[in-house]
Amino acid sequence: MKKKRVLVLADLPGDGLARLRQRCEVTVRTDGAFSQAELAELIRGYHGMLTLLTQRVEEPVFAAAQDLQIVANCAVGVDNIDVQAAARFGVVVTNTPDVLTDDTADLTWALILAITRGVVSGDAVLRRGGFTGWHPKFLLGKSLKGSILGVIGAGRIGRAVLSRAAVFGVETLYHQRQRLPAELEGKLGATWCDLDELLSRSDIVSLHASLNEQSRHLLNERTLASMKDGSYLVNTARGALIDEQALAGALRSGPLAAAGLDVYEREPSVHPDLVALENVVLLPHIGSATWETRVRMADCCFDDLITFLTDGRVPARALGGAPE
Ligand code: DGY
Repeated sequence: MKKKRVLVLADLPGDGLARLRQRCEVTVRTDGAFSQAELAELIRGYHGMLTLLTQRVEEPVFAAAQDLQIVANCAVGVDNIDVQAAARFGVVVTNTPDVLTDDTADLTWALILAITRGVVSGDAVLRRGGFTGWHPKFLLGKSLKGSILGVIGAGRIGRAVLSRAAVFGVETLYHQRQRLPAELEGKLGATWCDLDELLSRSDIVSLHASLNEQSRHLLNERTLASMKDGSYLVNTARGALIDEQALAGALRSGPLAAAGLDVYEREPSVHPDLVALENVVLLPHIGSATWETRVRMADCCFDDLITFLTDGRVPARALGGAPE
């Protein structure tokens, strides 16, 4: 039987590519991200595609991709893919849930600690020669113990962030449209509240919602202004959940004391007003960046491509279900 053809748009760690090559005819292109027109041209004749979150895949690509059956996206977020268009064209989309949950939650806490305790600013001050001796009022931060953390979006990563809070003596609130079952709320020790209450009561707000048209700029000039005076904001989810211009304003003139960001509206660009501020820690989208997790994410994609294209089974991670 003729081997199925797969377009892999990434250089990934691990041995998954070698496994895929044994079962399929594979082309690797790492010179993207491609425009929709370029990808629509490139994808012709391929049955599967592996994408990174930096590659947009929209209707014109699915319309041109007559043979395409599956897109394996090497990320848990699928906002780079028009999943509805994929379903209309009978293309299965998979992502990489679970395997990156703990590392992303850990990095969220790294940012929480960094901004409440001046971890990054302290390092910078010292290197500039600013550590002239122990001083009782030098670089004072905020105690985590007794603080309130508000998590927006209590999916896998949001819940993992909440579950780490007790270790620091942090009280937790969460908000999402659908309340968690009472048993799970009890286990997490987290209290549901509406967005306004969460923003006005939390000392630290951490974003874990997925990005869609409803959640774009969830934190904007109005909602940022409703946050508690001297509070902290962390985003390890998707940059466009926050209006970056408004965030820079809230960091300059209040109410925010500081922010920790791992993701940006227009990656890899970072809003120049944020770069100019000292009370924001800026990381280069590394929430899932450990060897272990990145190998696991790659394996999810390669396994799903093999399962679907050569074993004929719809992978459990398929978002759109089996094509008719
Ligand atoms: C994702 O998977 O969506 C992250 O942003 C990258 O790991």
